[in-house]
Amino acid sequence: MSSKILPSTFRKLVVTKLTNNFREAVAVKELEMVKPGAGEILIRNRFVGINASDVNFSAGAYDPTKKPPFDCGFEGLGEVVAVGEDAKLPVGQTVMYMVFKAFSEYLVLPADKVFPVPSANAEFIPLLISGLTASIGLDQVGRMKSGENVLVTAAAGGTGQFAVQWAKKAGCKVIGTCSSDDKVEFLKSLGCDRPINYKKENVKDVLKSEFPNGVDVVYESVGGEMFETCVNSLAIKGRLVIIGYISQYTSEKKPLEVKPDLPRKLLTKSANIGGFFMPHYSNLIPEYVKKLVTLKMKGEIVSCVDQGINVPSKFVGIDKLIDAVEYMYSGKSQGKVVVELNPPS
Ligand SMILES: NC(=O)c1ccc[n+]([C@@H]2O[C@H](COP(=O)([O-])OP(=O)(O)OC[C@H]3O[C@@H](n4cnc5c(N)ncnc54)[C@H](OP(=O)(O)O)[C@@H]3O)[C@@H](O)[C@H]2O)c1
Repeated sequence: MSSKILPSTFRKLVVTKLTNNFREAVAVKELEMVKPGAGEILIRNRFVGINASDVNFSAGAYDPTKKPPFDCGFEGLGEVVAVGEDAKLPVGQTVMYMVFKAFSEYLVLPADKVFPVPSANAEFIPLLISGLTASIGLDQVGRMKSGENVLVTAAAGGTGQFAVQWAKKAGCKVIGTCSSDDKVEFLKSLGCDRPINYKKENVKDVLKSEFPNGVDVVYESVGGEMFETCVNSLAIKGRLVIIGYISQYTSEKKPLEVKPDLPRKLLTKSANIGGFFMPHYSNLIPEYVKKLVTLKMKGEIVSCVDQGINVPSKFVGIDKLIDAVEYMYSGKSQGKVVVELNPPS
């Protein structure tokens, strides 16, 4: 094994209680430093990404058979600080990855499960879960065609920002919903043709008056009433991609029941609703990571990171992970919420 000089211990976040209240679900634990085995690398995390589904994971929704304590956090970027035998990556290489144990200062992973990146830039993180979900989801389930109208909900968020840009790149007209004028300006900067601040304008009315023939594709992540509005706004042969329903993740209320008139609504428009869950498309991940990294490096897509622009201090250190999850749920974040776990080495 070759390695840098390492501390004797490190800290990670562990789910200790099954609940979607992230603050109650997790605790910071200190452990002895780990070593990579054959084919493995030890990563010193620089940045980790916050995802809306961190609260679903801590509630046990991803694997109901799993009992606490268990690791959490879906994605990160860091430096390789030790390599096991036959691990074909050098110490010092920056890598990014997706696993279910990212909220840790250090972690061991198989060397062939990570993506090397040219630098420890936090802006690579949003390309993973957020960028992949938008690009693969819109291509595979949305099947967008140039000239179509595409509606993106939570458009100024982690994945929404990429859905807007992916649809623009496909030659579509893009409508995006958000909750503030700052986000409206952000969406304009991404090329969004019709940002809608739903706190000021009624989404249903805007769609009815400005898009009377309906929208061809919807990238929907909010659920509840927003989902209902989106279904009602579908054009003939429209496709609605369900990627989430965030309004119901932490709500005490039961999810809205499917309305009995949904079959009629879809049939009479030859419209489709399709779910999208990124792990089911894992075969496409390497190809799309390459595409997204190339576009980012060429400056053809923007990857906006929010390390706490609307809070008094930046999200730095493992103790800020809970605040960062709550910040995302406050609706104030813009782009992808990212926490810096370790300073540059
Ligand atoms: N299917 C998949 O594989 C997959 C992968 C990644 C993400 N997702 C889904 O994509 C959605 C967005 O996730 P993200 O991680 O990128 O988060 P995000 O969009 O960065 O942050 C959440 C945003 O959702 C909007 N929102 C609307 N109603 C909300 C409510 N009741 N409570 C909290 N936020 C609300 C807020 O923006 P505005 O109010 O300004 O709209 C908020 O800023 C989630 O539904 C998530 O589950 C799915």
